[in-house]
Amino acid sequence: MTSPYGMLAELTYDCPLHCPYCSNPLRMGDYDDELTTAEWQRVIGEGRELGVLQLHLSGGEPLRRRDVVDIVRFGSGLGLYTNLITSAVGLSRRRAEQLREAGLDHVQLSVQAHEATASDQIAGTPSFDRKVAAAHLVKELGWPLTVNVVLHRLNIDRISEILALTEDLGADRVELANTQYYAWALRNRAALLPSRAQIDRAEEVVRSARERLAGQVEIIYVLPDYYSRYPKPCMGGWGAHQLTVVPNGDVLPCPAAHVLPLPHPNVRTEALSAIWSDSPMFQAFRGTGWMPEPCRSCPRREIDFGGCRCQAFLLTGDPARTDPVCVLSPDHGIVTDAVRAANDRDGAKVPTPRPHPRDT
Ligand code: SF4
Ligand code: FES
Repeated sequence: MTSPYGMLAELTYDCPLHCPYCSNPLRMGDYDDELTTAEWQRVIGEGRELGVLQLHLSGGEPLRRRDVVDIVRFGSGLGLYTNLITSAVGLSRRRAEQLREAGLDHVQLSVQAHEATASDQIAGTPSFDRKVAAAHLVKELGWPLTVNVVLHRLNIDRISEILALTEDLGADRVELANTQYYAWALRNRAALLPSRAQIDRAEEVVRSARERLAGQVEIIYVLPDYYSRYPKPCMGGWGAHQLTVVPNGDVLPCPAAHVLPLPHPNVRTEALSAIWSDSPMFQAFRGTGWMPEPCRSCPRREIDFGGCRCQAFLLTGDPARTDPVCVLSPDHGIVTDAVRAANDRDGAKVPTPRPHPRDT
C-alpha cells in the first residue's frame, strides 16, 4: 500500500452558488457539525505524517470558513503545497493578501460561462463580475491561476468564448471538465448531458486552441466518460493516492463516496493513518482482488481499475460492479440509454439549481 500524496479538505459544504451540477451531497444538513480549526490542523498534521504533500482546500466554498487563512498558514508551515479551490465569491483584497502572507501557493477559480448573464444563470446568483475581479487580483498578487469550467449541454458550444475569457484573465492553466454525473448532476443529467455533435465540435475547438496556445496556457480537457469506450481511472485507483476529508470529519477515498453503503470512518474517533490503512471504506476496493468479471480477467484492470465505484453504485445499486461506462460492462445499456436520450433531445431543459443547505 502506498502513501497518499494528496488531501482534499472539504472545509464546508456551505456555498453562495447554486450550480445544478454541484457535487455536494444531496443532504448537506448531515454535515453541519463541521470540524473546528484545531481539528482541521490536527488532521492536516496527521496527513503530513502519512506522506501527504498537496493540500487542496475546497467545499462548498472554502472562503465561507472564517479560519481558512489559519488553515492555509498551518498547512504551509508543514511544507505542504496549498491550493485553494474557490468560486472566488468572498475573495476580497484583504482576504487575498492574508492568504498570500499565510503561504497559499495556488488558486483554482471556477467560472460557469463566458459572460455574465449565462454565468450568473448557471451559478444561480450574480457572481461573474466578482470572479473576473478575483482573477485579476490573483494575478496581481503573483499566484499561478487555474480556471476551471464545468462543461455541459448549456455551455459546451461556447468553448471558444470561454477560452478567450480565460486568456483575458491571464490563466496559466484551464481545466475544461465535462460534468461528472454524481449528486446534483445525476439528478439533472437530462438537462446537462451534451449530444455527440456537441462533443465532437468541442473537441475540434479544444484541439485548435491547444495548437494556438501551446507553451502559453495549459489546457486540460477531460472527456465526458459517457462518450468513452472505457471508464476513467477514477482517483488513480481506490485508496491509492488521495483521500478526502469532508466537513464533519468523515474520511473518504473520493469526494462522492459518502453515497456508498460502507461505514464512514471519522477523524474525530480514529487516527488518519488507521483509517487509510485499515478501514473497511478504504479497503473495500483497493487493488484488483474485489473485481468481478469482466474486469477480473481484463488486460485494462491495472489501467482504469474497473472505473468509478461511485458511478457503479449510483447507476446499478452495487459499488462492486464494473463501471457501466465500460463497453464490456453488462450494465452498459444504462449509459447508452442516457446518451441516446441526449442525442434525441432538441435544445436544452432548465436544470434544477442546487438549493441552499438549510433546505436539504
Ligand atoms: Fe476497465 Fe473493467 Fe472495462 Fe476492463 S472490463 S476496461 S478493467 S472497466
Ligand atoms: Fe468515487 Fe469515482 S467518484 S470512485
